[in-house]
Amino acid sequence: FKPWRGLIETYRPYLPVTDATPVITLLEGNTPLIPVPYISQQIGKGVKVLVKFDGLNPTGSFKDRGMTMAISKAKEEGAKAVICASTGNTSASAAAYARRAGMRAFVIIPDGYVAMGKLAQALVYGAEVIAIEGNFDDALKIVRGLSENYPVTLVNSINPYRLEGQKTAAFEVVDTLGNAPDWLCIPVGNAGNISAYWMGFCQYHQQGKCDRLPKMMGFQAAGAAPFILGQPVPHPETIATAIRIGNPANWDKALGVKEASQGEFNRVTDEEILEAYRLLAAQEGIFCEPASATSVAGLLKVKDQVPAEATVVCVLTGNGLKDPDAAINNCNNQVKAGITPDLSVVAKVMGF
Ligand code: F0G
Repeated sequence: FKPWRGLIETYRPYLPVTDATPVITLLEGNTPLIPVPYISQQIGKGVKVLVKFDGLNPTGSFKDRGMTMAISKAKEEGAKAVICASTGNTSASAAAYARRAGMRAFVIIPDGYVAMGKLAQALVYGAEVIAIEGNFDDALKIVRGLSENYPVTLVNSINPYRLEGQKTAAFEVVDTLGNAPDWLCIPVGNAGNISAYWMGFCQYHQQGKCDRLPKMMGFQAAGAAPFILGQPVPHPETIATAIRIGNPANWDKALGVKEASQGEFNRVTDEEILEAYRLLAAQEGIFCEPASATSVAGLLKVKDQVPAEATVVCVLTGNGLKDPDAAINNCNNQVKAGITPDLSVVAKVMGF
């Protein structure tokens, strides 16, 4: 038995770190690749679907993979403070890793559009949280300007170390499957993660760790689908607040990934997202946040295109506990409340 030492130590030869890099880690990574038999059955044709549940990282999202790298490198470079714009998960992760490294963490969020759990995390980790009356795209513009003019390091996914860390998720998928999957389905917001996965698959392919590359299938929420419309969306709207983004920073990279992998971008409605979200929880026992269910919603939408016998990995980017309001308001289930504390009464309510 070898204890897990975090993704920088595990994948050190593949990452831009040296002996001089202080490794700031919460032992992120090593998340499970879980088979989902009910969803596989919905596709049929002998297709095998698995989910990479990155919501099981230390702060509950895939952002920790990028943040261990970004914060370690910021520390190495002597930074005293970091800053990010965020729909919630980046802010939670930046706050945790920055505080662990003894740095200040400034997070700029769209007021009223960050899920409760994420806001709670940023606050309790000790970030300095600034809510603007604007959306994520406005916040990103501001933090870019601030990081150019003040001594604060930007840790959004335009920081190249973020993608370096996030590419390790692709390594783990290949290490577990023994090869790359045929398809990789992934939610797309700012398009950092899809770019990072592709980097990871290509790097492993060059090293001979896999003999094929996946078709990269990127899915956006219909109300925030700039890649499908082919232009920025000025007022993005979706229940999946994590991907409520109209002007993705990694635009060119993502288009390159689509082309190089012969992949596709598609959009799913909020109702399709919620349907996949409920199905994952109630049929598979896997509770992710709404934005994450976009990958499964997308797969179900294009299921006719999946080749027979294919292996498909859907990325579940964040934990369902991040957004308890979305869960309670959308789960078609409710508490049977106001029951007399009496065994026979409770038995009757149970239907016995
Ligand atoms: N899923 C979740 C749960 C996210 O939080 C994000 C992005 C994405 C998917 C999309 O990933 O931007 O790399 O395409 N969240 C960012 C944030 C924007 O601020 O937490 P992407």
